[in-house]
Amino acid sequence: MGKVYLKTFGCQMNEYDSQRILSVFRNYGFIPSEIPETADFAMLNTCSVREKPQHKVSSEIGRLKKIKLKNPEFKIGVCGCVAQQEGENILSDFPYVDFVIGTEAVNRLDVIIDAVLNGERVADVEMKSENISIPAFRREASPSAYVTIMKGCNNYCSYCIVPYVRGSEVSRKSTEIIDEIKFLIDSGVKEVTLLGQNVNSYGKNLDENINFPKLLYMIDKIEGLKRLRFVTSHPKDFSREVIFAMRDIDKICEFLHLPLQSGSDRILRNMNRKYDYISYAEKISLAKEEIPGLSLSSDFIVGFPGETEKDFEDTISAIKEIEYESLFAFKYSPRPGTKAEKLDDTVDDKVKSERLEKLLNVQSAVTDKLLNNYIDKDAEVLIEGKSKKDEKIYSGRNRQNRIVNFESDKALSPGDIVNVRITDAKRNSLFGVNKECMTTLKN
Ligand code: 5AD
Ligand code: SF4
Repeated sequence: MGKVYLKTFGCQMNEYDSQRILSVFRNYGFIPSEIPETADFAMLNTCSVREKPQHKVSSEIGRLKKIKLKNPEFKIGVCGCVAQQEGENILSDFPYVDFVIGTEAVNRLDVIIDAVLNGERVADVEMKSENISIPAFRREASPSAYVTIMKGCNNYCSYCIVPYVRGSEVSRKSTEIIDEIKFLIDSGVKEVTLLGQNVNSYGKNLDENINFPKLLYMIDKIEGLKRLRFVTSHPKDFSREVIFAMRDIDKICEFLHLPLQSGSDRILRNMNRKYDYISYAEKISLAKEEIPGLSLSSDFIVGFPGETEKDFEDTISAIKEIEYESLFAFKYSPRPGTKAEKLDDTVDDKVKSERLEKLLNVQSAVTDKLLNNYIDKDAEVLIEGKSKKDEKIYSGRNRQNRIVNFESDKALSPGDIVNVRITDAKRNSLFGVNKECMTTLKN
């Protein structure tokens, strides 16, 4: 039996694509390999959202080249956003790469594998963006799964490469989404995360009369589904209706990732984000009011061209005011072909680093404060696995998407949902005790 090594960089969409890729390889009789050295195929699923992950691709290809020199039958493929962006250039720059497939070509992977097995070198980066139809596919066993509902982005934030490498927004038909979720539930899944670059635009290109909140209500009816999540929402499209659906649908978890990017209206305008801080903060207030226990998360960019100390202080104030439980922050990185690339990258790298550090320090204090609120309260935990070191320690996630490690005398399995009393809160995980076992533990 052949083996395939697949390394994934970047976002959840890439993880989802990697799961699809593995399922195609499985149909060909390949099994996954943890290391490239013992594999017959290696694929890199790449990310180009910032310069750093993009650079990693060349070093990873270099590592795989060494294996190919020893074993000429070893096949190397590159897919994902760098593949989409660079296309055939990868074949000419790296003569030992066998195939390059763009973000839409995952659909055609079987044909590509055939060609590669026949000794051809292939680059397929065609993008039609007309529709997306993804047949349901088998994943590695897990109680939670990703389901793509739309892909692409029409927003053209001035710093962002995504619209160029993932194409324009296209939604998947609701029947296909529902069928895929039912298929997953039949195979043991309890929690689904809906994926899209901009989930709130769901349905815009479809003939059906549907939008994102309507889709949420349809999915709610699926029996056996216990938890529902979604990423990512764009603040300009995140509507009151979505907030009310989050409030009214019990299955939707109390977690919202709503990237603000900057607290300065001037910078938001230059980023082409199409909202200002006040309108963002109003949506957050409504969401906090309507959805008790809501955990917020965000993305920020520091050092966008022209960002002054004052702009940066606006970002810091926003972080203090909104109180995210967690966030991702990045130094601005100019991306080829974007509008912002043409602006002078005015902020010195040293200043970017200082701002990033300050932002993360401010956030750590906010996170610590919020995490303390979990202590001595109960959390609903969906079990994902067991500790390898101690068989009484289980691991899962609460509804706010925090990792919870907890003790249980009672034997439990992945996919079980239990009530855990939280006893300690660290930045990486909460710790607690299975409520049903608390009396036994006390004795
Ligand atoms: N530079 C830095 N960060 C970026 N992001 C997107 N493009 C860039 C860029 N050019 C960040 C945004 C986005 C997250 C996925 O990556 O914060 O929300
Ligand atoms: Fe990029 Fe903006 Fe689209 Fe997000 S909404 S993928 S940041 S262009």
